[in-house]
Amino acid sequence: MASPANSGYVPFFIAAAVALTLLISSAAAHRYNVLRYGARPDGITDSTRPFLMANAATVYVPNGTYLLMAAVFEGPCWSKITVRLDGTLVAPSDYRALGSYEHWILFMSVNKLRFHGGTVDGQAARFWDCRMSGRDCPSGARSVTFYWVNDVRVIGLTSIDSQMAHIVINGCNDVLMRNVTAIAPKWSLNTDGIHIQGSTRVTISGATLETGDDCISIGPGTRDTFMTNINGGPGHGISIGSLGWNMIEDGVKNVTLTNSVFSGSENGVRIKTWARSTTSFVKMVIFENLIMENVMNPIIIDQNYCPYYEGCPNQFY
Ligand SMILES: *[C@@H]1O[C@H](CO)[C@@H](O)[C@H](O)[C@H]1NC(C)=O
Ligand SMILES: *[C@@H]1O[C@H](CO)[C@@H](O)[C@H](O)[C@H]1NC(C)=O
Ligand SMILES: *[C@@H]1O[C@H](CO)[C@@H](O)[C@H](O)[C@H]1NC(C)=O
Repeated sequence: MASPANSGYVPFFIAAAVALTLLISSAAAHRYNVLRYGARPDGITDSTRPFLMANAATVYVPNGTYLLMAAVFEGPCWSKITVRLDGTLVAPSDYRALGSYEHWILFMSVNKLRFHGGTVDGQAARFWDCRMSGRDCPSGARSVTFYWVNDVRVIGLTSIDSQMAHIVINGCNDVLMRNVTAIAPKWSLNTDGIHIQGSTRVTISGATLETGDDCISIGPGTRDTFMTNINGGPGHGISIGSLGWNMIEDGVKNVTLTNSVFSGSENGVRIKTWARSTTSFVKMVIFENLIMENVMNPIIIDQNYCPYYEGCPNQFY
């Protein structure tokens, strides 16, 4: 077949151009900037959809404030994802919009998640007012929950003013939290900093937890928890339990807490169980190198746990 002398170059240039285009588009596909998909950093526009639709290996949230409604990030499409959060996610200012969901931001059935930086603000002040006033209030949402998630790293996340617990790790394996912060007023109800339950190999390395309830609480079915460099208080300190609410219940095994400071908290370290016969247990606990400043109960083991003196098993009031 006859052809011009330079024909060999044409396919080369086309191939090069195609390769370059592919390279550029695949780079774009691997980084999903929420601004490009309709999120608005104005704190007012509902940006939930662009977050939920993210499909890339890296999700990037630039500085700014984004309104996010209750959202579930789920399954294979949210696996192997790195979220780089430079901005702040805010909950709706009307607490009723979240209040009857159990969760605000929920990661569920995900493998391999990386979460860097940023702030989540539950804006719960009016929700707590409602609860304190004794009016009829919704049951409230936890701010960030990891449910059935394996292999997660959360680095530099700050959670403020959650309605209920700030961060919940439930049914997870291999979780690393580094340099996380949870802040809510001392008088706010049930604003635990980090709640861990049914999970194995959770490490918390570096945390500032100033809350109205437990700084960290560890519930049934938890194994191999390692915590270091925790600054707790105000709040109720670090609790294992409450355990033994159910007769058949899995216990807690292998907990280490080291090099931490509690300041102005109600308790330092605590183990609490309901006064009931149960299969639950607590084994292999090390608390070491702890500094307690202005802490009411530095170490407390309570096997007749009964907050508010009502509705507890086997208690005489
Ligand atoms: C980030 O955004 C907030 C408003 O949401 C603004 O006050 C602040 O100055 C911004 N910071 C940077 C480093 O751009
Ligand atoms: C901890 O996280 C905060 C907020 O993301 C960041 O400003 C700070 O530099 C981090 N500190 C360390 C020691 O990584
Ligand atoms: C206890 O947990 C730590 C940290 O999670 C782990 O390195 C260690 O191997 C566990 N020890 C036992 C005896 O399982």
